[in-house]
Amino acid sequence: MQERYDLIVIGSGPGGYVAAIKAAKMGMKTAIVENREIGGTCLNRGCIPTKTLMYSSHLYAKAKELHELGINYTGLSYDLNKIQDRKDQVVDKIRQGTKSLLESNGVTIMQGRATIMDTHRIRIQNQEEVRFVDTDKVLIASGSKPILPGIEGITSKNVITSDELLSQRDQLYSSLIIIGGGVIGIELATYYLDMGSKVEIIEAMDRILPNMEREVSQSIAMNLKKKGASIHTKAKVVKISESLDNTLICEYEEKNGLKSTFAEGILVAVGRQANTEGLFGPDFQLAMEGAHIKVNEKFQTSEANIYAIGDVIKGRQLAHVASAQGIAAVELMNNQSPSIHLDIIPSCIYTSPEVAVVGMQEEEAKANGLAIKVGKYPMLGNSKTILSTGERGFVKVISDAETGRIIGATLFCERATDMVGELTIAIAKGLTYHDTASVIRPHPTYEEAITEAVEDIEGMAIHLMPRKR
Ligand code: FAD
Ligand code: NAI
Repeated sequence: MQERYDLIVIGSGPGGYVAAIKAAKMGMKTAIVENREIGGTCLNRGCIPTKTLMYSSHLYAKAKELHELGINYTGLSYDLNKIQDRKDQVVDKIRQGTKSLLESNGVTIMQGRATIMDTHRIRIQNQEEVRFVDTDKVLIASGSKPILPGIEGITSKNVITSDELLSQRDQLYSSLIIIGGGVIGIELATYYLDMGSKVEIIEAMDRILPNMEREVSQSIAMNLKKKGASIHTKAKVVKISESLDNTLICEYEEKNGLKSTFAEGILVAVGRQANTEGLFGPDFQLAMEGAHIKVNEKFQTSEANIYAIGDVIKGRQLAHVASAQGIAAVELMNNQSPSIHLDIIPSCIYTSPEVAVVGMQEEEAKANGLAIKVGKYPMLGNSKTILSTGERGFVKVISDAETGRIIGATLFCERATDMVGELTIAIAKGLTYHDTASVIRPHPTYEEAITEAVEDIEGMAIHLMPRKR
C-alpha cells in the first residue's frame, strides 16, 4: 500500500524537528526527511559547535587572568584535538537526544533528499533507493547555506566558510582574515583571538555589526581590538591569491586606496542564502521572493497545503525564530491561532561580554520619531560583575513615554543572553517599567541591573549617582 502522511517536514533543523514533534503531539501522522545530519545547521554547523568551541576558548582566555584571583598555575596550554572531540561529543549527544524525541513522539525519520514532485507527492532519494511518499501537507524547513561572493580567488585552498571552520579537526590558523563583520564573523573572531591567533576583519559597511546600535558595535569593536584584532570598515576585498609558501594574500579597497594583507586562512562570513537546492521537481515550482520561498502570514506558500518556515523564508535567520515559526505553522494548519508572539524576537551575540537585544533599539526609536524614556545602568556598579571580574557593559531599557510600557532593551553584559527572556516577556505582555521594577531580584546577581535600569527611567535608580539637575 502507498505510504501516506498527514504532514511531511523537509529538513530537521530547529525549524523542522520542532514542527514535526509539535505536529505529532497534535495528532498528525508525521514524517521528517533529512539529507544530512539530524539537527540541521544550528546543531551541526552553527549555534552549538560555535558556542561549544567558544566555551573552551573563553575559559582559556580567562585562565590567563586567574593569578589576579589568587590562583597560581604554570604551563597553561590547550589541546586542540580534545577541544574538537568535546565539541563533537556535545553535538552528538544533542543529536541523539533530538532523534530520540522524534522517535518517541512517533515521527518517522527518513534519510535522503526530498524533492517536491507535486502538491501531495514527495520523492525521497538516498544512496540505497528512491521512493515516493504521499502527504496531505508539506512543511519546508530546508534552511540556508553560506553566501560565497564573486571575489577573484574565493575558491583558493584555506578560504573557507563557517561550515569548514567548524569541522576542521586539527587546524587552527595562526592568522585569520575574516571577510564580513556580522554575527558569524564576530563570534568566530572572538574564538580565534581567545585561542591566541592574529585576526583581521574586513567589513563592507561603516562599522562591524551594522544591524546593532552604534554604541554596541563600537564597544565590541573596542573589545576585539583590545584582544589584538585589526578591523577595516568601508572596505571591499577585490582579490585573493596564494603565495608560494601557501600564505593567502588578500587585496582590499579602503578609504585610502588599495591595500593588501596576508594570513594562513580566510573566513568568508558575508551572510547566508535560502537553501532550495534540489527541492523542486521538474514540473513543480513555488512562488519565490528573491532567493527565498514566498509565504503569507500563515506560512503558506503559493500552494495552500505547502508551508515554509525558518531560514528558507525571508526574515531573521535565527534558530529560535525557526522553531517558533514551526510551532505556529503547525498550529495554523490545525486551525489554531499561533501560541507564540512571532514579532518580538530576542537576538544574541555570544561575545564577552554578551549582547542581547529585544524589541526597539534606542537609535531606531529615535529615528522613527517615537516618544520614549530610556533607563540605563552601567555594569561597573553591579556587585556580581565586580566580584566576578566582569567586563564593562550596561543594561538599557526603552519605554513608551506615554504609557510607560517597555518596548525594547539592549543588554551588553555577562549572561545577557540568559537575562533577555525577562524583558521579552515584559514587552509581549505590555508590562510597564513600574511592573518590571516591582519584583524582588536576588542579590548578588547580574539581573539586579534590570531593576536599576528600569528605576533609572525616572531617575530613581538606587545604585546610580543622582542625575545632574
Ligand atoms: P537549518 O538548520 O539550516 O536546517 C535545514 C535542514 O534541512 C538541514 O539539515 C539540511 O540538510 C536539510 N535539507 C535541506 N534541503 C533538504 C532536502 N531537499 N531534503 C532533505 N533535507 C534537506 N542562530 C541562533 O539563534 N543562535 C546562534 O547562536 C546561532 N549561531 C549560528 C552560528 C553559525 C556559524 C551559523 C552558520 C548559524 C547560526 N545561527 C544561530 C543560525 C541558525 O543556525 C539558523 O537560523 C537555523 O539553523 C535555521 O534553522 P532551519 O530549521 O530553518 O534550517
Ligand atoms: P550577517 O548578515 O550577520 O553579517 C554579514 C556581514 O558581512 C555584514 O556586516 C555585511 O555588511 C558584511 N558583508 C557583506 N558582504 C561583504 C563583502 N563583500 N565584504 C565585506 N563585508 C561584507 O551574516 P553572517 O555573519 O554570515 O551570519 C548569518 C546569519 O546567521 C546571521 O544573520 C544570524 O541571523 C545567524 N547567526 C546568529 C548567531 C547568533 O544568534 N548568535 C551567530 C551566528 C550567526
